[in-house]
Amino acid sequence: MTKTKNANLSAAKKAKNDEFYTRWVDIEREMNAYLEYDPDVFRGKTILLPCDDPEWSNFTKFFALHFQDYGLKKLISTSYAPSRNGGGIFYTPTPFETKSPDYDKSKSMGRGRVFVLEESDMNADGVINIDDLKWSYLDGDGDFRSKEVIALRNESDIVITNPPFSLFREFIAWLIDGDVKFSVIGSGSAPTTKEIFPLIKNNKLWVGKGFHQGDAYFQIPDAARTSYADGVFDEDTRTVHFRNITWFTNIEHGRRHEPLQLMTAEDNKKFSKHKEVCNIGYLKYDNYDAIEVPYTDAIPSDWEGVMGVPFSYLNKHNPDQFEIIGITKTWFGAAIKTYPQQIQVSASGRRTKVGKLNDGAVIKIAKAMVGKTYYEVNGEFFIQTYPRVLIKKKVIS
Ligand SMILES: C[S@@+](CC[C@H](N)C(=O)[O-])C[C@H]1O[C@@H](n2cnc3c(N)ncnc32)[C@H](O)[C@@H]1O
Repeated sequence: MTKTKNANLSAAKKAKNDEFYTRWVDIEREMNAYLEYDPDVFRGKTILLPCDDPEWSNFTKFFALHFQDYGLKKLISTSYAPSRNGGGIFYTPTPFETKSPDYDKSKSMGRGRVFVLEESDMNADGVINIDDLKWSYLDGDGDFRSKEVIALRNESDIVITNPPFSLFREFIAWLIDGDVKFSVIGSGSAPTTKEIFPLIKNNKLWVGKGFHQGDAYFQIPDAARTSYADGVFDEDTRTVHFRNITWFTNIEHGRRHEPLQLMTAEDNKKFSKHKEVCNIGYLKYDNYDAIEVPYTDAIPSDWEGVMGVPFSYLNKHNPDQFEIIGITKTWFGAAIKTYPQQIQVSASGRRTKVGKLNDGAVIKIAKAMVGKTYYEVNGEFFIQTYPRVLIKKKVIS
């Protein structure tokens, strides 16, 4: 089942099917984490929601509802032209549009829209809410890369959305270009890429509070339901389930400042609940000047050198406690050794000539393994770990 769900996210990216709508509860949980840290985080701010038609998007409804208690200055929401999303098969014109005197059938399919809420109470009912949204057609299709949406980004303080999965890295580059605060949803594997990792390393982007255990449930348009394997679309909740999804942000929140409670290297060796560490301690990589720490809760509190930790560590990273210094990917260039051609021996014993041992951290083993993949180089045996983040204890100056 897990495989099917992950395959689903890849298939969605490949097919450029970007119509996944975020649940209210997930937006609320994330925004509450920022508000707990700073109750005035949104006060006096202009927020842009750049992929959000209010008919579909809970983001627009959520921020319109909270316009007054968050103290917003302005809320701008833009939507992408229906002809652009999967050929418009999911399209139904919104009541905002059809009920308006400005409704223009000839523009409806090919144009994006912009929806604006400001401090003035348009319908004079005493509250500012979604009924006060003003809307108009954009000149173009509402692509976030278009000049008119870039201009809206440039007048905004904060950008919040669940952007198209197929354009995630480009979307992050667009946010960084705009020098805005942001909070966006994306795949938990994004930090292993050469576009996203440097931003994480340089503290320009971090993981938000996130979804419970990375499990995200998105609503999808009725017309898209048939494209999911049995068990992935849930009829009761009308959602699809993706694993390893998280929020990426540059807005502060409390978890980021909670130190991890850790044991010393000696105590881990004696008491760790992990069989890879208990009575063994920590193995040294063959090709990085660092030790292998296979679990976040097994990080030794007193280790002064570099440690390779799983990417899930980023969900617990506290920049006052540890410094992120690298990643075990070839493109990062931190390896101290390069292997000549290797023989990969699969779990079933199949032997293949490969070069992939260089793209990851490697541990030397005493003898060939049985029933597990290993590598042979010049008569020596090795295994490769999953991609690791290289971290080091923060030196307090
Ligand atoms: C993952 S969905 C999320 C929708 C909404 N933000 C939400 O969370 O409910 C991404 C949205 O981005 C829109 N989109 C796709 N490509 C886009 C682009 N280049 N510019 C702006 N929006 C785009 C899609 O039509 C889709 O509605």
